[in-house]
Amino acid sequence: MPNEYKHFINGQMRDSLSGKTFNSYNPATGEVNGVVAEGDAEDIDIAVSAARNAFEDGPWANMAPSDRMRLLNRAALKLWENAGYLAEVESQDNGLPINETKMIAIPAAIDVLEFYAGLANKIQGETLSSPGNRFNYTLREPVGVVGAIVPWNFPIMLTMWKLAPALAAGNTVVIKPAEQTPISVLELVRLLHEAGLPDGVVNVVNGNGETAGAALSSHEGVDKVAFTGSTKTGRLIMQAASQNLRPVSLELGGKSPNIVFDDATVEDAVNGSLFGIYFAQGQVCAAGSRLFVQESIYDRFMDSFIAKAQQIQIGDPLKPTTQMGPQVSLEQLNTIENYVAAGLDEGAKLATGGTRTHTESGGYYYSPTVFEDVTNEMTIAKEEIFGPVLSVIRFKDEEDALKKANDSIYGLASGVWTNDIKRGHRMARGIKAGTVYINTFSMLDATAPFGGTKQSGFGRELGMQAMDMYTETKNVWVDLSSEHMNWYGR
Ligand code: NAI
Ligand code: MG
Repeated sequence: MPNEYKHFINGQMRDSLSGKTFNSYNPATGEVNGVVAEGDAEDIDIAVSAARNAFEDGPWANMAPSDRMRLLNRAALKLWENAGYLAEVESQDNGLPINETKMIAIPAAIDVLEFYAGLANKIQGETLSSPGNRFNYTLREPVGVVGAIVPWNFPIMLTMWKLAPALAAGNTVVIKPAEQTPISVLELVRLLHEAGLPDGVVNVVNGNGETAGAALSSHEGVDKVAFTGSTKTGRLIMQAASQNLRPVSLELGGKSPNIVFDDATVEDAVNGSLFGIYFAQGQVCAAGSRLFVQESIYDRFMDSFIAKAQQIQIGDPLKPTTQMGPQVSLEQLNTIENYVAAGLDEGAKLATGGTRTHTESGGYYYSPTVFEDVTNEMTIAKEEIFGPVLSVIRFKDEEDALKKANDSIYGLASGVWTNDIKRGHRMARGIKAGTVYINTFSMLDATAPFGGTKQSGFGRELGMQAMDMYTETKNVWVDLSSEHMNWYGR
């Protein structure tokens, strides 16, 4: 019997008002991993009301910032104690190899909570230098109820990127997890609650994007919408939030260029580029999915890259030796297969991979895939595949690389491999993207602002920058003069 999961609203597990449920699958086996309450607009209503009440009234609204800091730090300790458990739940929910959840995704998420816990009592306004006998200052206040719509590739981490700064600033939150991965986020929120977070401060409503997600993003009681996911859905969310003119932050898709110059250390560039595309089965918004290799080292680089790609250990995500798990869903697997077919159709050369694998397990496995002789006009160079499929493009010189790299509707991340320090920084200025990695790829840190340009979205998560999205500035004027203002009688 699979476990049953509900919504988490106002500190309690609740069924949907409709009584509906949906299945969550284990991508490594295709078996049902859990039966989950399927929420609709009416469940979102209840959760938003709970978040509103907790925001306006009660222990959270009246908590001193230092107490909020202590509470969030206590929650972080609780998560550290359960980090191994969360890693296992997350790996079962979405197929990430246990090493990637244990060593990267879960610790990184807790680190983010600690970073923002530390900021909870450092959010402050300013005294302004105003003319005359006036006192003029600003308050930085929480925005209110935050609606967080999150995807399935790093459920706990990407939830935390929104939750931690929102809570540190004193907001309350309603989360709509991805329907593919509802379980780990519920477990996360249960633990936060056990650590003492008051009822209603964090709520989770499970369900589909078109119903529960749409209701959350258009809800009048939501003061800010934070989203990570596809560019297509980002557009819908912005439209929905425009009904009530609510601010949105959108962290969307990418087709990030990763550029290898002939003056790079080849072995490092090969290893880093492998991580850049195959980490998390290629289900990374920042993935270096367009690899640009300079003509003069092309063969040497690619021989090594392909040989190493073929050695990646694919298998059960819970096995510590596994380096690549299954894709998250059958739907994603089909999408990948369609893109590979388009690549072949449009004349790209399949150098390795291009097949489903480990099919006897029932899981959604796909082999590490490399396409060579790709041009920027091909579908596989333009569109986000979100799987272990790399498009390799040759370039002549720096100018050529920059032109080709920037020729994209996306602008999330980018990589440059060179030992020429001037060239590295020149490229960093020239590339149109939210992040530039020099001689590394897919690094993340709580202190480092992350987000996109162009159709990769806007707003910066992480770092001090994220606090701007979760606070509102209020300006207060006080007249200190002994005379009363009397404009019309002057
Ligand atoms: P999606 O963007 O549709 O789903 C992400 C979240 O948005 C989920 O929680 C979903 O329920 C919700 N959602 C969907 N439609 C909605 C709507 N109309 N209103 C409000 N919320 C809605 O992504 P999906 O369909 O799972 O994957 C499709 C593609 O999106 C992937 O192949 C990949 O290219 C991209 N993607 C990008 C991610 C990133 O990290 N930037 C994460 C996940 C997907
Ligand atoms: Mg979708």
